[in-house]
Amino acid sequence: MGFNIAIDGPAGAGKSTIAKRLAKELNFIYVDTGALYRALAYAFWNQGIAPDDEAAIAKACEDVSVALVYENGVQQVLLNGEDISAFLRQEAVGNMASAISVYPAVREKLLSIQQDIAKQEDVVMDGRDIGTCVLPNAQCKIYLTASARTRAERRYKELLERGEEGDIDVIENDIKERDHRDMTRAIAPLKQADDAVLVDSTEMTIDEVVAAIKNEVSRAMNEA
Ligand code: DC
Repeated sequence: MGFNIAIDGPAGAGKSTIAKRLAKELNFIYVDTGALYRALAYAFWNQGIAPDDEAAIAKACEDVSVALVYENGVQQVLLNGEDISAFLRQEAVGNMASAISVYPAVREKLLSIQQDIAKQEDVVMDGRDIGTCVLPNAQCKIYLTASARTRAERRYKELLERGEEGDIDVIENDIKERDHRDMTRAIAPLKQADDAVLVDSTEMTIDEVVAAIKNEVSRAMNEA
């Protein structure tokens, strides 16, 4: 097993920004597990499957192939062999990913992909259930969160920077809805693992969060 750092938390808490920075500084591989759920959501969306049609989704899971590859340390998601990473960041794909992530067929399909990488490589892996289900033996576990309003403000700024428009109250409501769905689903719900360290980034800069997590990583590396 490589050295595994698990970062879980709700949408918009800054997991990917922080995990990417951390992976670069430590020379670890960054694994964005949300991209796997998004890839399946994208596939089902294109096939016209409704997010509440569990039977069709379970069937479609059997016929689709998803894989992660790394080029110069950057993750690419292959759907049936084709790199679809560029299509995964839209809000609609994220919401569909959250909706389909409740199904056992979806979670089972993606579990071994995540576990296999962590067995072979030193990883910073972010998601919802990494510390609790995917990598229960990770040497370092972080639960990264922030208030819903702060997360909405961050998303809103990202949209503006991309030249897109948004309504901050709508974004905040979407975030709260997604939190609720991710935290209350029956299988592998989002929650802080018993042995995870809580980092609340509401009042913290990115540099401060990275520094706080690096402290935890150093502590875990000394213990390992
Ligand atoms: O992190 P993200 O926004 O890209 O994730 C999209 C959705 O995928 C998220 O709302 C729930 C699901 N997901 C999950 O169930 N388990 C993970 N480890 C990662 C994501």
